[in-house]
This record gives sequence, structure tokens and C-alpha cells, in this order.
Amino acid sequence: MAAGTALVTGASAGIGREFCRQLAGRGYDLLVVARDAERLQALAGELGSEHRVNVEVLPADLTRDEEVDRVVARIRGLDGLTLLVNNAGFGTLGSLAAAPPEQQEAMIRLHVLTPMRLTQAALPGLLERRRGDVVNVSSVASFIYSPGNVNYCATKAYLTTFSEGLATELRGTGVQVQALCPGFTRSEFHERMGEDGGLRPRFAWLSARQVVRASLEQLDRRGAVVCVPGVSYKLLVALIRHLPRPLIGRVTALGYRRL
Ligand SMILES: NC(=O)c1ccc[n+]([C@@H]2O[C@H](COP(=O)([O-])OP(=O)(O)OC[C@H]3O[C@@H](n4cnc5c(N)ncnc54)[C@H](OP(=O)(O)O)[C@@H]3O)[C@@H](O)[C@H]2O)c1
Repeated sequence: MAAGTALVTGASAGIGREFCRQLAGRGYDLLVVARDAERLQALAGELGSEHRVNVEVLPADLTRDEEVDRVVARIRGLDGLTLLVNNAGFGTLGSLAAAPPEQQEAMIRLHVLTPMRLTQAALPGLLERRRGDVVNVSSVASFIYSPGNVNYCATKAYLTTFSEGLATELRGTGVQVQALCPGFTRSEFHERMGEDGGLRPRFAWLSARQVVRASLEQLDRRGAVVCVPGVSYKLLVALIRHLPRPLIGRVTALGYRRL
């Protein structure tokens, strides 16, 4: 069966761009969404010539209602969407009290409202064809809460819980949902939020290639809804899930004071 078409948000860099590369290698046609149209065009050129797949560039700021409306309309008009990857995201540093309100609102729109709207737009077609996948790129942060990352953890917790609930709702329909929960991954993410990540040991870092491979392989074997790439992060998440919640706050507060 042909792979079909995948829509990837945050396709211009990092994990999203790597999703596009691996999906093109599997024969998917692509719709690539992010704000930076030039980078998307360059990616479309690269994938079109390397893998002979069709790549449609759809520049959009997914924190803006009217631009999300355009992507929703494009999804509804698509014939063969088989995979939606809700990946676009960003992090911030610092306390909620000191953060610019518009930046925190943008995070909630990008990590919560937009994935929910795009998923809802994709579902009727996926259900009709009884086939397809939705990947929501969440984070190991979805299992904790932390000062300095209040909304990041909270919005990622939404994505993980949303995915688990929806997967239960879709059981038996042929449509899969995954919450992809990476730990520290080399991309532009940390640099964009003004942090060099230099304090973290090398073993703590995953590559975008590893993260995407883990996600696609777990989809291939129709594995668990939550996908945590890397053995050490799997162990860490298992541990976190057994810790008393107040202890998580004490540990993350220690890390916050060190920054
Ligand atoms: N890197 C990590 O350590 C890590 C760990 C766990 C989870 N994650 C999650 O992984 C996802 C991808 O992050 P990454 O590490 O690949 O970061 P990245 O390299 O900074 O890429 C982020 C992507 O999101 C897009 N984006 C940001 N704001 C957007 C907006 N308003 N509208 C549309 N697109 C937007 C960016 O494109 P434009 O700038 O062109 O719009 C870019 O393509 C995020 O959801 C992040 O929370 C990352």
C-alpha cells in the first residue's frame, strides 16, 4: 500500500525536519508547515530531488487563529492524509511572573489549541479510510512540573494526556495516536530559548534521528501510545511515574536554583 501523505508542523528545523527526511525516505508525500518559508522551500527541493516525493510548502504561524484556519482548511481538502505530526513548539526560560504574557499565550496556542484543531480536522478522513496515525510531539517534561518551565510542562502534559485519551477513543478504528516524549534532543530548541545546554552531560542528549526512528518504529509495530526514545529516558520516566508528586517539585526546584 502507498505510504500516502504526511503533514508535519515545525518542519523547518530539528525533530520536524528529521520527520520529513525519514518520511520522504519511506515514500510519503509531504505538507510542510512552519513560519520560515525559505527553509521550507529548501527542504522541499532537497526531498523532492532525493526521494522523488511531492512536497507542498505551507508557511504559517501556528499561534495565529487565521493561519491555523488555513491549515485546517487544507487538511479538510486533502484526499489521502495518512499521518499528522503535531511537532511545532518552543521553550522559554524564567518565571511566569517575569515572562511576557504574549509569549506564554503563544505557547499555549502552539502546544495545545493548534494540535487539537489540526487533529480534529484530520480525524474524519482518517476514520473514513480506517487508516492513519497522529503523532503529538510532547516531552519527558510532560511527566513532571518545574519552576521556570511552568507552562512548558503543563502544555506538554496536555499533549500526552490528550493523546492517551484519544487513542482509547479510537481503539478498533485502525487510526493510531502517539505521544512522542523525547528528553534533551540536539536541535535549535535550546539555542532559540537562549540556553546553551552545556551543563548537561553528553549521554543526556539524543539526536533528532534517534527520536524520529523510535517514533516511526513504535508506530510500525503498533506499540504503546506513549513513546519515550532512549533506554535511559525510559527508565527515568518509569521512575518519575512512581515518585510521590511533591518530591518532583523539590527535585526540579533544586535544578532551577542552580541556573
Ligand atoms: N529539543 C529538545 O530537547 C526537545 C525535547 C522534548 C520535546 N521537544 C519538542 O520537540 C518539538 C520540536 O522541537 P525541536 O527540538 O525540533 O526544536 P527546533 O529545532 O527549535 O524546531 C522547532 C520547530 O517549530 C517551528 N515553530 C516554532 N514556532 C512556530 C510557530 N509559531 N508556528 C509554526 N511553527 C513554529 C519552528 O519553525 P519556524 O521558526 O520556521 O516557525 C521549527 O521548525 C517541540 O514541540 C519541542 O517542545 C524538544
